[in-house]
Amino acid sequence: SHLHDFLTGLPKCEHHVHLEGCLTPKLIFELADRNSIKLPDPKDNPAYSSPESLAERYGHFSNLDDFLGFYFTGMSVLISASDFEDLAWEYFKQANADGVHHAEVFFDPQVHVNRGIAYETVVDGFSAACQRAEKEFGMTTKLILCFVKHLPVDDAHRVYNQALESGHFEAGIVHGIGCSSSEVGPPKDMFREIYSSAKSKGIQLTAHAGEEGDPSYISAALEIGSQRIDHGRRLIEDQQLLEYVVKEEIMLTLCPVSNVRLRGVEKIEEVPIRQFLDAGVRFSINSDDPAYFGGFILSNYCAVEDAFGLSIQEWRTIAENSVRGSWIHEERKLELL
Ligand code: ADE
Ligand code: ZN
Repeated sequence: SHLHDFLTGLPKCEHHVHLEGCLTPKLIFELADRNSIKLPDPKDNPAYSSPESLAERYGHFSNLDDFLGFYFTGMSVLISASDFEDLAWEYFKQANADGVHHAEVFFDPQVHVNRGIAYETVVDGFSAACQRAEKEFGMTTKLILCFVKHLPVDDAHRVYNQALESGHFEAGIVHGIGCSSSEVGPPKDMFREIYSSAKSKGIQLTAHAGEEGDPSYISAALEIGSQRIDHGRRLIEDQQLLEYVVKEEIMLTLCPVSNVRLRGVEKIEEVPIRQFLDAGVRFSINSDDPAYFGGFILSNYCAVEDAFGLSIQEWRTIAENSVRGSWIHEERKLELL
């Protein structure tokens, strides 16, 4: 539509992108080759015949867990700090081209540590790319350590302690904590202890909730101390909770294209963007796992525009709310507004 140029130039903040979700089929095959990692046998899973067949399979996810199987297999090819750095750098280049001025990005160290990669290797690589984006693009960046709900909570505690011992939080190298992976099934409050400890140390907290799970997953996330909600699409089903979220100015990090690709909704029009705008729910628009869902942040903005035909004023409100909900100092917020 006629607003696409305007949306390209609109200064954007991204708060919901998994760096491992930026791993393209092409890079998966290249790194598997370079690092001698065996991908699944195409006889067992024909999707792994070629980068092209893998990309084609990504067009047919049946739900969150179906996607997560490919996502966790994909990231098994990452070995060295430079693998992690190159992956994040590819993201930052695209984000810069899409008009992102500030990016808060997730990574899944627990999964890497479980397959024998040192926590420090992961953070060294990712943080090197963050520093480069700050220097070359003037972008501000924050790393968010994401715990995963499908692995034992003891693994999360081990990685949390490693992260504390590394001094990364105090040094501002890792800024916040999140949690993701399978939503329905594991206990809603499985990271209560970690969130409570992190809160006492002034570490920022967010959590995936209300993507596939009902609004009780959102209230559980808020109850353990989450300051934002990643996805939160299903907040629309609980009017009382919605009013609380509005009153407390809690930001949702919506990922509309992801919701369609993982079959939470049939089309973008079903994401409750219009209702959230009218009710005054703060939200940002984000890409989630761009290499798996076929689009970075700008294509999410454009898909929302094509579905809802928002006004320029409404887009300015979305951009302003995404600055307000960012984990940055007032000074930087004023620069971005
Ligand atoms: N990990 C990566 N992407 C995710 C998503 N959309 N939901 C939950 N966990 C994820
Ligand atoms: Zn996500």
